[in-house]
Amino acid sequence: MERQKLILDCDPGHDDAVAILLAGRAPGLELLGITVTAGNQTLEKTAQNALRVVQWLGLDTPVYAGCDRPLVRDKIVAGNIHGETGLDGPVFPSLERTLRPEHAVQYLIRTLLASEGDITVVTTGPMTNLAMALRLEPRIAEKIRRIVLMGGSYTNGNVTPAAEFNILADPEAAHICFSAGRPVSMIGLDVTRKVLCLPEIVERMARVNTGASRLFVDLMGHFCRTQKEVFGWDGAPLHDPVTVASLLDPDLVRFKPMNVRIDLRSEQSYGRTNCDYFGYLGLPATADVAVDIDVPRFWDIVEEALRRYE
Ligand code: BDR
Ligand code: CA
Repeated sequence: MERQKLILDCDPGHDDAVAILLAGRAPGLELLGITVTAGNQTLEKTAQNALRVVQWLGLDTPVYAGCDRPLVRDKIVAGNIHGETGLDGPVFPSLERTLRPEHAVQYLIRTLLASEGDITVVTTGPMTNLAMALRLEPRIAEKIRRIVLMGGSYTNGNVTPAAEFNILADPEAAHICFSAGRPVSMIGLDVTRKVLCLPEIVERMARVNTGASRLFVDLMGHFCRTQKEVFGWDGAPLHDPVTVASLLDPDLVRFKPMNVRIDLRSEQSYGRTNCDYFGYLGLPATADVAVDIDVPRFWDIVEEALRRYE
C-alpha cells in the first residue's frame, strides 16, 4: 500500500495531541516530522507538549520548534480551553525526548525542496510556520501536494462571532497559505463541531485500554470540561484529528469547492474565513471546504488508532 507522506504542523493542544496519535501509527500514512508553533499556548509549552505526546506514544517522529509569534498581529493563546500548560489533564512522566536543533521553518523548506512533490502539509494550529516557509523559499509551493488545515468556518467562529482560533491567531499567515496556489482542504468548525466527544465516546475509548487510550481519556477529561464551561456542550468537538482522519479515509469528509478569503481588515470580523458557499461572487474556487462528515466512521478511525499502541 502506498503510504501518504505528511508533515504535521501543530500547537498541542488536546485535539492536536489526538491528531498526532492518529497519524503516528496509521498504516496508510508516513508521518515525516512534527513542526510546532505558538498557538494554544506559548511555543515553549506547545513544543514540550508535542515531545510529551510523542514520548508517551513511543513514536520516533522528529519534532521541530518553529515560530513563537504570529507574523503581524499580537500573540493570543487559548488557555481557557487547553489550560496553563496547553495540555492540562494527563500526568506526563519526565521528558527525555528533545527537540531537533533545526528551526521548523528550515525543516519545512529543506524537506519539501528535496521531495518529489508528494508531501501533504497538515496544519492544526495557526499557519505561521508554513507561511514563513513560503515567504522565505517560494519554490516550496510547487512541492506541496496539498495543504489540509483545521481552521476557519463558513458559519460562526469560536473566539469571536466571526473567527475561528487558528485563523484568528494568525490571519496574515492563513492568507499567505490560502493564496500559495496549491490545493487547500479547509476543515473548519462547521464540520469539526459535529464530532462531539460525548461521555459515551470517552467510555468506549477507555475500554480499548491501551497506553494511548489512557492518554485519550485523560486529555478528554480536561478538554470536555472546559468546552462545557465555555460553550455549554456535553462533549468536546475533536477538531484537529479530522484532518488526519480525512487522509485515512477519503470518503470521511465531504468537501465543496469555494472561493475563500481571509478577512484581514475589518475590526469586527478580522480573521474570518469568508467562504462563498453559494458562489455569489463568481470567483474561482480557492479551497475545498469541508461541509459534512461521517461521524460514526470518524469514531471508528479514532478507536482503530488507539488500538495500534501498547
Ligand atoms: C482549534 O483551536 C485550537 O484551540 C484547537 O487545538 C484547534 O486547532 C479549534 O478552533
Ligand atoms: Ca490545534
